[in-house]
Amino acid sequence: MSEKKRILSGIQPSGRLHLGNYFGMMKRMIEYQDKEDLFCFLVNYHALTTISNGNKLRKETLSAAMDFLALGIDPEKSYFWVQSDIPEVTELTWILSNVTPLGLLERCHSYKDKVARGISPSHGLFAYPVLMAADILIFQSNIVPVGKDQKQHVEVARDIAIKFNNTYGDTFVIPEEEIQQDLATVPGLDGQKMAKSYDNTVEIFADEKTMKQKVMSIVTDSTPVDQPKNPETCNLFAIYKLFANEDQVKELDDKYRNKPLKYSEIKKELFGMIWEYFAEARQERKKYENSPGDVINILKKGAGKARKIAGNTLQQILKAVGLNYFDF
Ligand code: ADP
Ligand code: TRP
Repeated sequence: MSEKKRILSGIQPSGRLHLGNYFGMMKRMIEYQDKEDLFCFLVNYHALTTISNGNKLRKETLSAAMDFLALGIDPEKSYFWVQSDIPEVTELTWILSNVTPLGLLERCHSYKDKVARGISPSHGLFAYPVLMAADILIFQSNIVPVGKDQKQHVEVARDIAIKFNNTYGDTFVIPEEEIQQDLATVPGLDGQKMAKSYDNTVEIFADEKTMKQKVMSIVTDSTPVDQPKNPETCNLFAIYKLFANEDQVKELDDKYRNKPLKYSEIKKELFGMIWEYFAEARQERKKYENSPGDVINILKKGAGKARKIAGNTLQQILKAVGLNYFDF
């Protein structure tokens, strides 16, 4: 067995990926591929809870794959695939459903938030955390890097693993979430959590005009230019910090507090920084856009590699719960 830890996380291909996704999860995941065993995948079954248009789901899945590849995920150094290419995960989901207390799911904030925002309260949406637990547990994952909004879901996976192990004997590794405190929640244009469904995102690969418009529309307060401002409560400052070095942050902090400052000037500077930050990745992405067949091959190959591991775990589970009736 490798000494390395298994790091696993997924992302929904439910819309264009944004700075919240990048700093909350993707960047860290990509950095892990050089240190640990990285498992990174696109959760298209999960995306079915909110997308009911086949063409859109197909498109967004390939687009998210291109994003990850352009940003540096290396399919040779990692496991990189699409969730639906590993059907063992959905088999495991049903088995886990039977050791999942209803109350555990009823307490999930994410379900309640989504329903409050008008998403149809389907069985899929309610059972979402069980599918996520199967994703995590079938790969015997040690660490799950996510943004703060997913903390509770990883806790659910942990509870399900413990319940299963207590019922059937030691089977699953107990996973832990990894949240980077300073990036736990990247704010959106309006200061709420940046999220695809809030229409408040800056997309990583937006075209120049759109990105500029978005950055210029970051909501700020109406303190006059020559009066002191509070950087700690300003979401423009919070987004600026993601791209600036320590000296630049200090300098801007001082400007906010002690010097005349026009928010629009900072926004222009910020746009330049973001545009520059992703310049190389944008070039890379073009290559993948021109050869979608290569992207599909990469994903299929990744699924083949990952499926071996999932298949092994599932065999153990089938035995543990007695679904291998033929093996008496
Ligand atoms: P969205 O909320 O935009 O639909 P997902 O739910 O697909 O995004 O999230 C994918 C990953 O990105 C998760 O690990 C999630 O915690 C992280 N993430 C999403 N938005 C943010 C944000 N604003 N700040 C930090 N992390 C985020
Ligand atoms: N629920 C996660 C999200 O919306 C995506 C996800 C699905 C996931 N399966 C996972 C994250 C397994 C980590 C591990 O962001």
